[in-house]
Amino acid sequence: MNSKQGGIMHTFINGIKVFFKGNPSAQPIVFIHGFPFDHTLWDDVIEQRKDDYYCIGYDIRGFGGSEVGHGQYTMESYVDDLEAVILQLGLKEVILCGFSMGGYIALRANERLQNFKALILANTTTTCDNDEAKLKRAKAIDNIEQEGVKPFLDNFFTAAFTQNYRQEHQDKIALLREKILAFNPLGIKGALLAMISRTDTTRSLEQAPPTLLIGASHDTIIAPKTMKDLASKIKNSHYVELQNSGHVSMLEKPEEFVEALKSFLIMHHLKENKR
Ligand code: MLT
Repeated sequence: MNSKQGGIMHTFINGIKVFFKGNPSAQPIVFIHGFPFDHTLWDDVIEQRKDDYYCIGYDIRGFGGSEVGHGQYTMESYVDDLEAVILQLGLKEVILCGFSMGGYIALRANERLQNFKALILANTTTTCDNDEAKLKRAKAIDNIEQEGVKPFLDNFFTAAFTQNYRQEHQDKIALLREKILAFNPLGIKGALLAMISRTDTTRSLEQAPPTLLIGASHDTIIAPKTMKDLASKIKNSHYVELQNSGHVSMLEKPEEFVEALKSFLIMHHLKENKR
């Protein structure tokens, strides 16, 4: 059953809280947030695109309003959830938009399901963790178990946002921090497990649909060069680098992010009603 929350329709599909805005007969775009956020990461972007597209966001299992369950997640289980959302909503020829961990999900979904109309990948990569990164995540799981999420989150925010953004948007950062600290730590640790065990999706780029890659000049988690290199591996790709932005580019540079998305969709004639 659909319900309204803050003016946004939502429903539950297999324990996943799904939100939609826009005209259901328009081209669907499914937005997948990154770690350790929730669907609201896309609020600004969806608000500005909802008149032309059917915008669907959801909370990845373990985050926001979605169920946490056993917490033993993999990229496969995240893709299962995404597939269930797409099937149950009856979405066809979907455009997937994934940020960071949401990009890992989008890339594996594209490799596994191969029926997407276009991909929008922000601040993400196809490669899996090297040993150093795996050990760092294992340590983070242990630290969260011992000390709770707060110290981990403080370090994460320092890496994920530029100093400028943190200083100029202290209220937004405080709200985000408060929201994430209210999530069940099991979901956060489960996401770290899923990222440790993810596979390399680089080869699937040979078969990728038209793809927009958005990097950020000051991203210290996924270097912009990584995104640029990905673009060179995709036949039909477009790379945009947002200047003076850290990792969470749709929050640090919302207007530029939306502009990149808009131009890409227009360039590829992805605006028509499709259903
Ligand atoms: C994210 O923003 O989703 C994560 O930082 C990705 C990662 O840690 O690899």
